[in-house]
Amino acid sequence: MLALLRLMQYLAGHRRAVAASILLMLLATATTLVQPQVVEWAVDFGIAQGDVHTVAVATLALIVAAVASGALHFASGLLLTRAGQGMAYNVRNDLFRTILSLSFSNLDRWRTGELIVRCTSDVTTVRMFVRMGFLMMMQSLAMLGGSLALMFATNAELARIMLAIFGGTLALFLVLATVIRPLIMRVRERLDALNNTLQENLAGAKVVRAFARQEHERSRFEERNRAFLQLSLRVGYLISMAFPFLFFLGQMALVAVTWVGGLAIIEPAAGRFAAGLTLGQLVAFNEYAMLAMWPILALGMTLQFLTRAAASAVRIDELLAEQPDIVEPGEPSSLAGRSPAVEFRDVSFAYGRGEPAIDGVSLRIAAGETIGVIGRTGSGKSTLAALIPRYYDPDSGSVLVAGVDAREAVLDELRRTAIVALQESLLLTGTIRENVGYAAVPVDGAPGTAAPDSRLRRAAELACATDFIDEREEGWEAHVGERGVGLSGGQRQRIAIARAIAADPSILVLDDVTSALDAQTEREIVSSLYRELREKTVIVISQRVNTVRLADRIIVMDEGRICGEGTHDSLLETNEIYREIAETQSTELRV
Ligand SMILES: Nc1ncnc2c1ncn2[C@@H]1O[C@H](COP(=O)(O)OP(=O)(O)O)[C@@H](O)[C@H]1O
Ligand SMILES: [Mg+2]
Repeated sequence: MLALLRLMQYLAGHRRAVAASILLMLLATATTLVQPQVVEWAVDFGIAQGDVHTVAVATLALIVAAVASGALHFASGLLLTRAGQGMAYNVRNDLFRTILSLSFSNLDRWRTGELIVRCTSDVTTVRMFVRMGFLMMMQSLAMLGGSLALMFATNAELARIMLAIFGGTLALFLVLATVIRPLIMRVRERLDALNNTLQENLAGAKVVRAFARQEHERSRFEERNRAFLQLSLRVGYLISMAFPFLFFLGQMALVAVTWVGGLAIIEPAAGRFAAGLTLGQLVAFNEYAMLAMWPILALGMTLQFLTRAAASAVRIDELLAEQPDIVEPGEPSSLAGRSPAVEFRDVSFAYGRGEPAIDGVSLRIAAGETIGVIGRTGSGKSTLAALIPRYYDPDSGSVLVAGVDAREAVLDELRRTAIVALQESLLLTGTIRENVGYAAVPVDGAPGTAAPDSRLRRAAELACATDFIDEREEGWEAHVGERGVGLSGGQRQRIAIARAIAADPSILVLDDVTSALDAQTEREIVSSLYRELREKTVIVISQRVNTVRLADRIIVMDEGRICGEGTHDSLLETNEIYREIAETQSTELRV
C-alpha cells in the first residue's frame, strides 16, 4: 500500500485535474441521491393528491437530474483518464531511465521478462486503479454514506434496520475479501511463471526447434497454464458463490422496507416502528436501499483493483529503487590528454558470491602497446576486459586507465577512452551506417552530429567489412534487425568491430569478436589494426595462436590468473598451456 501511495506522487503534476474530477464525481453522486427525494415529493404531493402538474414537474426534474449526472460522470472520467495516462507516461519514463542507469552486475540480477512486465503491464495496472478503482472507491463511499444519511433524515427507525442489514453485508463482504486477497496475489505469481515460460520460448524459439523439444516445452507450459487455471477457478468460484449471497442480503433490505414500512403506513397508530412514514418516503426508501446496495458490490471490484495495483506498485517500486552498482565518482578525474596505458594492480573479482573469475592479477600495458590474450574458455579473459571500462568494479586491487583509478575517472570519458567490442556482438535495429556510427561522436562536434562518412568507411575497411557491405544492393543503408537479420555471424561481428573502431577509443579491446571469422580474415583484421592504430593500445582476445602471435606481447590466462606472458617463441618453450593450445591448432591445420 505504501508503494502505491509513493507512486501517487507521479500524479503531482495533475493535482488540479484529480481534484476537479473528484469534485465532479461528488456532484454527480449528489445529483443521483436527489432523485429519490424528487420521487418522494411526486408521490406524496402529486400522485396521492391527484395533481398532474406536480407529477409533470417532478418528471422533468428527474430528466434534468439524469442528464446532469451523466454529464458530470463523463467530465469526471475524462479528467481522470488524462491524469492516469499522464502518470503512466511519467512512471514509464522513470523506469526506463532507471534501466539505463543499471550497470552490468545489476543487469545480471534482473530477467528481461521481469523488466518488460514492470514497464508495461504493471504500469497499466496502476493506471487502471487510478482511472477506475480510485474513482469507484470514492464514488461508492460517497453513495453509501449519502444514501444512509438521507435514509436517516427520512425515517430514523427504518434507517436503523437498513444500517443493520447493510452492516452485515459489508462485514460478510470484508471476510470474503480477506479470504480472496491472498489467493489473488498467488494468481498473479502463477501468471508471472506462465509469462516467463512464454517469454523464454519466444526468445529461444529457434533453440527449442533445433533440439526438437517442442513436446517438452508444451508440457511445461501446459503444467503452468493448468496451475494458473486451477487457482483462477478457485477464486472465480469463491466470487460467484459470494455474489448471490450478498444480493440475497440486499433483497432482505427491500423485504424489510416493504413489511415494516407498509405496516407503519396502514396502521400509523399501532406502528411501533417507522411512525409517521408517508407513502412517498416508503418509495424513496426503497430507492435508497437499491442505491446503497450498488456501492457495496462496487467496493468488491475496487478491492480487486486496489489489491492488484498495490502488488504492481511494489514491483515498480522495486525497480525504481534499484541502485546502479557503478556510479560516477564524487570528484571525478578527467582522462583528457593522458596517454592510454592500462594497469592491473593485484586485482581480484568474482561475479556475485561465486568463485573468483579474476584472482590476483597484476599487469602493466604501456600506451600504444599491442597485447594478445589467450586461454581456455572460462579462464577469465572476458572478465579481465570488462574491468577496464568499469563494467564491473574489482573486489580488491585496482585497475588504472591512463594512470587514473577507473573508479575515480569521469565515467563517460572512461567508456569513450576504453571500448570493448563484446563477444556477443548485438547490433541495434537500423541501417548498417547507423550501427557503425552508433558511438562515433566527432571529437569537436556536439553529440548527435553524424560522424563523417570517411571515418565510418575507414573503420569498415579496417574491420574487413567493406566487401560485403558494398555487395549489398542497399549498401550502407541496408537494414539490420535486433539480431542482425540477413547477416551471417561473421558479417555481424565485422560490423561490431567497425562500430568499436569508429568510436575512436584510445584503448580498443576485441573480446573474441573474431570467433565467427575464418582464420585468414581474423589475421587480416588484427594485423591491420595493429599496423594502423599505432598510437592506440589494442588488446585482442582470441582463441587462435596465429592471431595473438601478431601482438607485441602475449598474455596466457588460466583459472583467473595470468600463467604466462611473453612472445610466441618464449611461451612455446616455457608455458605448458600455451604449448597445448598451439599443438591442437597446428594438428588441426595439418588434418
Ligand atoms: N555474468 C556472469 N555472471 C556470473 N558468472 C560469470 C559471468 N560471466 C562469466 N562468469 C564466470 O566467470 C568465469 C570467467 O568467465 P569469462 O571471463 O567469460 O571467461 P572467458 O572469457 O575466458 O571464457 C567463468 O567461470 C564464468 O562462468
Ligand atoms: Mg570470453
